[in-house]
Amino acid sequence: MKKTNRDWWKKSVVYQIYPKSFYDSNGDGVGDILGIVEKLDYLKKLGIDVIWVSPIYDSPQVDNGYDIRNYKAIFHQYGTMDDFDLLLKEVHKRDMKLVMDLVVNHTSDEHIWFIESRKNKNSPYRDYYIWRDGKGDGMPPNNWGSIFGGSAWKYDEKTEQYYLHLFAVKQPDLNWENEELRKDIYKMMRFWLDKGIDGFRMDVINFISKNQQFPDGEIREGQAFGDGGPYFVNGPRIHEYLQEMNREVLSKYDIMTVGEMPGASTEDAKKYTNPQNNELNMIFTFEHMNLDCKNGDKWDLKPLDLVELKKNFEKWQTSLHGIGWNSLYWNNHDQPRIVSRFGDDETYREKSAKMLAVCLHMMQGTPYIYQGEEIGMTNVRFEKLEDYRDIELFNMYKEKQQLGWSHKKIMNAIYAKGRDNARTPMQWDDGENAGFTKGTPWINVNPRYKEINVKAALEHKESIFYFYQRLIQLRKEKDVITSGKFELLLRDNPKIFAYKRIGEKETFIVLCNFSNEHITIEDLELVSEIKNAPVVISNEKTNNNRKELTPYEAVVYSLMSKN
Ligand code: NOJ
Repeated sequence: MKKTNRDWWKKSVVYQIYPKSFYDSNGDGVGDILGIVEKLDYLKKLGIDVIWVSPIYDSPQVDNGYDIRNYKAIFHQYGTMDDFDLLLKEVHKRDMKLVMDLVVNHTSDEHIWFIESRKNKNSPYRDYYIWRDGKGDGMPPNNWGSIFGGSAWKYDEKTEQYYLHLFAVKQPDLNWENEELRKDIYKMMRFWLDKGIDGFRMDVINFISKNQQFPDGEIREGQAFGDGGPYFVNGPRIHEYLQEMNREVLSKYDIMTVGEMPGASTEDAKKYTNPQNNELNMIFTFEHMNLDCKNGDKWDLKPLDLVELKKNFEKWQTSLHGIGWNSLYWNNHDQPRIVSRFGDDETYREKSAKMLAVCLHMMQGTPYIYQGEEIGMTNVRFEKLEDYRDIELFNMYKEKQQLGWSHKKIMNAIYAKGRDNARTPMQWDDGENAGFTKGTPWINVNPRYKEINVKAALEHKESIFYFYQRLIQLRKEKDVITSGKFELLLRDNPKIFAYKRIGEKETFIVLCNFSNEHITIEDLELVSEIKNAPVVISNEKTNNNRKELTPYEAVVYSLMSKN
């Protein structure tokens, strides 16, 4: 085991790669592992420390690899195990780390465990999945809806029982109650860790323990199915399982772990990430991503209330301080592009992208940058539904249509929230297919690639890319970013997100204007505090006029801490 500072992830910045859309090295229209290898110097230049790569395992790709057929093999279009070994070597050679996606709430229905499980009720693998009798008359075991639409249960004629799938029909849920299954998962995790990978991002890991009574969920207005969430989100044995996983596997390696956890509160997060509990290093919260929708339905759009966003960050920043650890993100492969969502992707694209970066990167936690975020990639609006690829979006379309939503309303929801916004190919240059592939891309490129691409960003000193580079460097240079206390300022101001980071010696004041207007800072005490204070970073050329912020301005001041 390597003996290093085990908290290295606290000072790290992670870059997420969605392999299908990153870089295609062989012209088949699909990104691949050797494509990632070719771009490692680009990532090194950006300054990131860790690469998290979304699933590259063998998979029928119903959910772009989050449906795994074989945990110990590589999806053929992405390459081979030799390619993977090369990637790991090349990443380490550049003094970066590699984190893999761990998808163990479910597998593909083409996984050998499920093939065996489904054969008969006495199969040794039967209990690796969640099988139940229906309620008669074609009724499933309970009323839970799947996250991708429809019932969460699928009837299987062979053995006349239903299996649970919280996601797609082809993603049956694993039964963590079964000890043999858990041992097999741990073995598989060791397989990758023994190769030398540096950690795991764990897919919906707080869903793995289900209430074994499988009670019906509440059916909310306008919904066809019951909400099973209360019975599987942060379920009864979740902490026991994670502690066991930690004991059996994680604790034996010098790695980082991050759990994707929809529905986890700050109280939950404290338990998951407090080092004394021996579970995970950090989790992904969804709370800040759920603020621009109604009733928890991501497709039901609502404008962002900045005050709510600020209070939410305040809650996470203060609750976990000194107890657990935050992850910081605006983007990933499931979320629309942040500059289109909370910024302005037209007039102020560059400026608002930088402002959003400052706002997030000056907080406490480990920041995650999603491919393309560092060049300000934007949402896409495909006119034709058939140009989209995401299974979630097609299921949603059918369901909303049945609920009476118009085509236009659904398309607007897709433009705002569809996951394919994040999945269009990485824009490398202004050539054909944005330089992503020499073949036909598996999903169309965003037509804005002529203007927004890596080549242009690298040639332009003031680009978003170099701004991110500077933010990443700052985290290395300034301890206050890692360890300072968070204090929200201008609490009820609806346009400015302002906060302090109070360190032992140095204090930062971070001011971010989330609007396209000039905004006066009305707090005179704050105005006098920042007067003559040195600027650490800003997206504005001069910060002489310190009583007002220009549209989407972001500025960070440094002060001596008061003792
Ligand atoms: C969360 C992943 O991020 C998402 O892309 C996937 O569809 C679901 N989990 C199911 O694995």
